[in-house]
Amino acid sequence: MAEPAADVKKNAGGAFIRPYNAETDYDAVVEICKATADPSYASALELVPYLYAIPYLLLSPTYTHVLDSGSGTVVGYIIGTPNTRAFVRRYRDTYLPHTTLPPPTTNPPSKLRRSLEESYARPEGMIREDVVDEFPAHLHIDILESHQSQGWGTVLMERFLGGLRSAEEGVKGVHLAMGKDNVRAGRFYGRCGFVARGDLGDGATWMVRGMD
Ligand SMILES: CC(C)(COP(=O)(O)OP(=O)(O)OC[C@H]1O[C@@H](n2cnc3c(N)ncnc32)[C@H](O)[C@@H]1OP(=O)(O)O)[C@@H](O)C(=O)NCCC(=O)NCCS
Repeated sequence: MAEPAADVKKNAGGAFIRPYNAETDYDAVVEICKATADPSYASALELVPYLYAIPYLLLSPTYTHVLDSGSGTVVGYIIGTPNTRAFVRRYRDTYLPHTTLPPPTTNPPSKLRRSLEESYARPEGMIREDVVDEFPAHLHIDILESHQSQGWGTVLMERFLGGLRSAEEGVKGVHLAMGKDNVRAGRFYGRCGFVARGDLGDGATWMVRGMD
């Protein structure tokens, strides 16, 4: 099992990073995805994991790493894929046909719910032609507040990038999308070697990083 990196600020609870275990960690990852979502997702929070967490757990589990509090409880994760185009094909062929979305929590369903349903049903929207060939991998990372700002994000990122380096297909680079107001995440990604590619027309900030 992975030991915490030496630069982690303090680790009184004995937290550590380990590979995702589908039998024990699925529910916790789904809950963390909702708990750390931007407040603007509130009117359709139930759908957020169906776009931003569950497909990765099912289609790309070997690239998933979790932060364990030290007692088996998952308090953070990093998920993603080395090949966004191939991921989208598998999403369409194997994820969509076998997934049922939870009912809306508002009546009538919010505008956001309808918009997320459309994104969920059209995974090709994940493919940004402006970045995907040069930076074919992509990722999402979320840590509960209790374990933020202690260096764990950096360690999770190192683990994920290490997984990409070992990928048989050879990965040239990685990209991600971030809410443009998420200043803190922007600082974090900058420290991890990402640079802003800018707003590709959808209001998000896109960041890219070549593999060294
Ligand atoms: C963004 C996020 C993944 C970063 O992970 P993190 O573990 O908090 O990141 P780090 O600890 O590596 O760095 C964050 C802060 O801790 C500080 N820090 C990092 N390593 C440190 C160390 N060894 N010692 C002291 N401080 C450290 C950094 O200076 C940084 O400060 P800042 O936030 O003022 O810039 C995490 O905060 C998070 O999940 N936030 C909520 C959800 C989110 O925004 N996800 C990204 C969506 S795009």
